[in-house]
Amino acid sequence: MPHPYWEHRDWYDVHDNTSMAGPDREPEHYREFVIALPPIGPDDSLVDVGAGTGKLSGLVAEAYPDLGRVTLIEPNESKLDRARSRLASRLGPERVRALRATLGEGAALPAGEATLAIVGSVLMPVLAGRGGTQRDGRAWVVRVLAEIHAALRPGGWLYDVETLAMPWDVGAEDGPVRRLTLLELVAALEAAGFEAVECVYRFRDRVVVRAHRPR
Ligand SMILES: C[S@@+](CC[C@H](N)C(=O)[O-])C[C@H]1O[C@@H](n2cnc3c(N)ncnc32)[C@H](O)[C@@H]1O
Repeated sequence: MPHPYWEHRDWYDVHDNTSMAGPDREPEHYREFVIALPPIGPDDSLVDVGAGTGKLSGLVAEAYPDLGRVTLIEPNESKLDRARSRLASRLGPERVRALRATLGEGAALPAGEATLAIVGSVLMPVLAGRGGTQRDGRAWVVRVLAEIHAALRPGGWLYDVETLAMPWDVGAEDGPVRRLTLLELVAALEAAGFEAVECVYRFRDRVVVRAHRPR
């Protein structure tokens, strides 16, 4: 059922257009992600979860070419190959590791290694595409985040680039799954064991959220 705000004619007129931060906002979103990162160097081990073709870790490698090591995690083998060769051409093959894995299904990831985990547009689109209820979807997000938490060293950080639900995009727990709001994503991060959760960039539905694995 549409949110009741859509029944208000003035609110409708304000929002019945490109009310979401459309794809033209993506370059800014990814640039702000790079700006939000801490300094990265040879002692850092980066894990890119749902790496796709390596766009996000490629931006990190471009900004911080001395970074120690990158682990690419991606279920799609051909995307993973593309990501591996992109990163290897930038950093050298010895600093790049590619792991074919699907998070949220109990995948065995290298535990406690990464100083920095990055996630680019993975949790919300995959959540929305999985089907099932909102309760199931939220439980899946917490499972994925707990796996990322376990892959981080104590003291490590997660930086997550997401396109969230709009504020009026609500629904019952047993209703169809949908993207999370910012408050719901923060709650999922805390349920997975993260602390110091902070939204470091937001433009409408586009956010960068960071969270810390406690020491
Ligand atoms: C929208 S793409 C984003 C790719 C890349 N992070 C970027 O920013 O361009 C989402 C990626 O997540 C991957 N993916 C889907 N389900 C996943 C899961 N359960 N665990 C890890 N990656 C997953 C998909 O194969 C896809 O490559």
